[in-house]
Amino acid sequence: MPKILIQKKKKEFVEELKREIIIRKSKKYYITNLNQDYSVSGDTIPKKELKKNGEKIKSSHGKEFIIFDSTFVDDYKKIKRMPQTIPLKDVGLILAETGINKNSKVLDSGTGSGALTCMLANFVKEVISYDIRDDHLSVAEENVKTLNLKNVTLKKRDITEGIEGEEFDLITLDVPEPWKVITHCAKALKVGAFLVCYSITTPQLQDFVAELAKEERLLCVKNVELIEREWSAEGRIVKPKTISIGHSGFLTFVRKILK
Ligand SMILES: C[S@@+](CC[C@H](N)C(=O)[O-])C[C@H]1O[C@@H](n2cnc3c(N)ncnc32)[C@H](O)[C@@H]1O
Repeated sequence: MPKILIQKKKKEFVEELKREIIIRKSKKYYITNLNQDYSVSGDTIPKKELKKNGEKIKSSHGKEFIIFDSTFVDDYKKIKRMPQTIPLKDVGLILAETGINKNSKVLDSGTGSGALTCMLANFVKEVISYDIRDDHLSVAEENVKTLNLKNVTLKKRDITEGIEGEEFDLITLDVPEPWKVITHCAKALKVGAFLVCYSITTPQLQDFVAELAKEERLLCVKNVELIEREWSAEGRIVKPKTISIGHSGFLTFVRKILK
C-alpha cells in the first residue's frame, strides 16, 4: 500500500516585521516503493520509517515528517490521465443528486482515462464503461488495476450503436455528441433512475437539451455549473485563493419517468 508523507509548513517570528511568516510551505509526497530509502529534497527517509502509519518520523537530517497509509482518494489523484477528466466537485454532485449506492448498476461512457468510472466504482455495485478508443481503454484498464477495483467492466463499444443490458440505476455521459444516445439511455434506464450528461460547451448542452425534449420517457430536471472556490486562511489573511478551478463543464440531470 502506498504511503503519504507530509512535511508540515514552518512559521517563524520575524523581529523586524513583528509578525510570523511562513518559511516553508506544507508539502505532500506519494510514495509507492517502500523497499528503498525515499529521497526528498536532498534529504532521505530511511526505509524502515516508511513502514509506519500515522506517526511522526525523522529524516536522515533530523527533519520531522508525518507518514500514513494512502487511501482511495490519494491513489485516485495519482492515476494516469489522458483526455480531460471530470473534477471531484462534479463527481460529488452526481453521487448526491442521483442517490446511487452499493446496490446500483451504472453505465459510464466514454471511459476516457476511467476517472469517473473508477470514482463511481468506489461507491456502487457495478460499473460498465464504453469507449471507442483502444489507447484510452488501456489507460483506464491500468487505472482500474492500480485502484484494485473488481466491479468494473470496460468495453470497446460505440455508445451511439446502443447499450447492452437494461435496468441501469444511472447512466453518465461524457461523449462529444450525447444527443445521439438519448433514445438508448431512455431504454436502458430503470424508471426513476438518472441520466447525467457532462457537457463542456454551451452548444453541446443546447443540442442535448433540445433532443431530450423529444423523448417523453425522460425529464430534464436541471442544468448545473458548479463553481469551486478555495480559500486560504492564514492568520488574518482570509481570502479566496488566486488560482481556483474555473469552468469545467455543465451537468444535466435527467430522470426516466415513463416505462
Ligand atoms: C472526455 S473523455 C471522458 C473522460 C472520462 N469521463 C473520465 O473521467 O476520465 C471522452 C471519451 O469519450 C470517448 N468517445 C467519444 N465518442 C464515443 C462514442 N461514440 N462511444 C463511446 N465513447 C466515445 C472518447 O474516446 C474519449 O475517451
